[in-house]
Amino acid sequence: MKTKVAVVGLGNAARAMHLPALASLSEVELVGGCDLDAGCRAAAEQAFGLAVFDDLARLLDEARPEVIVVATPPPAHAPVCIAALEAGLHVVCEKPLAPSLAEADRILAAASASAGRLAMNHEFRCMPIFEALAGQVGEAGVGDLVTAQAWQCMDLPPWREPGWRGELLGGVLYEAGLHLVDFLLFLFGEKPVAVSATTSTCGVREEASDAVAFLTLEFSRGRLAQVTQNRLSHVNTQYFEVRADCAERSLRASYGGRARLSAGLFRSTRPHVRLEWGRDGIAWSERGDERASLARNPANAPMAATRAVLERSLRAFRDGTAPPADGQAGRDVLEVIAAAYQSARSGQRVDLQGPVEDLRGLG
Ligand SMILES: NC(=O)c1ccc[n+]([C@@H]2O[C@H](COP(=O)([O-])OP(=O)(O)OC[C@H]3O[C@@H](n4cnc5c(N)ncnc54)[C@H](O)[C@@H]3O)[C@@H](O)[C@H]2O)c1
Repeated sequence: MKTKVAVVGLGNAARAMHLPALASLSEVELVGGCDLDAGCRAAAEQAFGLAVFDDLARLLDEARPEVIVVATPPPAHAPVCIAALEAGLHVVCEKPLAPSLAEADRILAAASASAGRLAMNHEFRCMPIFEALAGQVGEAGVGDLVTAQAWQCMDLPPWREPGWRGELLGGVLYEAGLHLVDFLLFLFGEKPVAVSATTSTCGVREEASDAVAFLTLEFSRGRLAQVTQNRLSHVNTQYFEVRADCAERSLRASYGGRARLSAGLFRSTRPHVRLEWGRDGIAWSERGDERASLARNPANAPMAATRAVLERSLRAFRDGTAPPADGQAGRDVLEVIAAAYQSARSGQRVDLQGPVEDLRGLG
């Protein structure tokens, strides 16, 4: 029996990731889509032969989906998720779960009162290079995770982003940075105990905003992780880089296409010739000069990883098992980001055992 799935919000994320992913899953029947914008409805109808609606209630009533994928901008996530959950449907929501912890809590309360369940599209968890890196932690010859760094460097400050993203001034961690923070929570398998952060425009813009964020996460047993988000860098985009240092080896993932032949001296001592390639990213482990390849991403890795999230979440809904990221994971990463902004405002380390000030001005 196929699962009937509909998509709400037919913009970039739906057309580049969710609709192609859903259309390629044999166990899915795509029954409809909904968007407020006529152009987006027409584009989805034409590209995917989708029955389209301008109203959520009509979509639910006429297309009769069992699962809703929510791909609207964040301010619409709570109303759409809650309406779908109250109708007893399962939901896969795009990140970030909501613009505030208060709204995230309303969504989680609707999920606990519903027969439907909630999963998040935190797709980097299911991308081959990041999955392979996480799978190495604790293995023989690798050992337990000790410390990790995740970083992003790109020449795109938030105020140059088109559409609703450009209005999220003061939220650089909240949008793209969320993927880096979520992956570290996934890697450590827990929420940090404390967070400290500094955010700034580094003098290139006067009004309240941020384009650079430095964040330190303290996990149990004194283990540390760091996130650097630099949207003022003129390098070739490095959207998502991770180094995870374990007791015996270091693990490394680099997202984005790479084809590189290098020859020379490592640290001016040992000669080497090395070929590296990956359509959309590679992962490896290393110890000193020695390297072992772990995984390569396929082409169009975000779509492929979203397909993995959807496939595994639908299976989890059917079997009553855990999806790759549930609603609580969506709330946990928001809480860490809220704590980071609280720390940046106050100049204080924020203890996550205590109350955290809510996110501000992202709705
Ligand atoms: N997981 C990822 O890697 C990833 C990548 C891109 C976007 N996203 C997330 O996906 C979401 C959408 O982003 P996007 O880039 O597609 O934005 P977008 O602006 O391209 O598309 C959003 C669409 O939702 C529609 N919409 C708004 N309110 C609506 C409502 N109440 N009912 C129905 N439709 C509504 C808009 O008309 C628009 O067409 C955001 O939460 C974003 O953070 C995630």
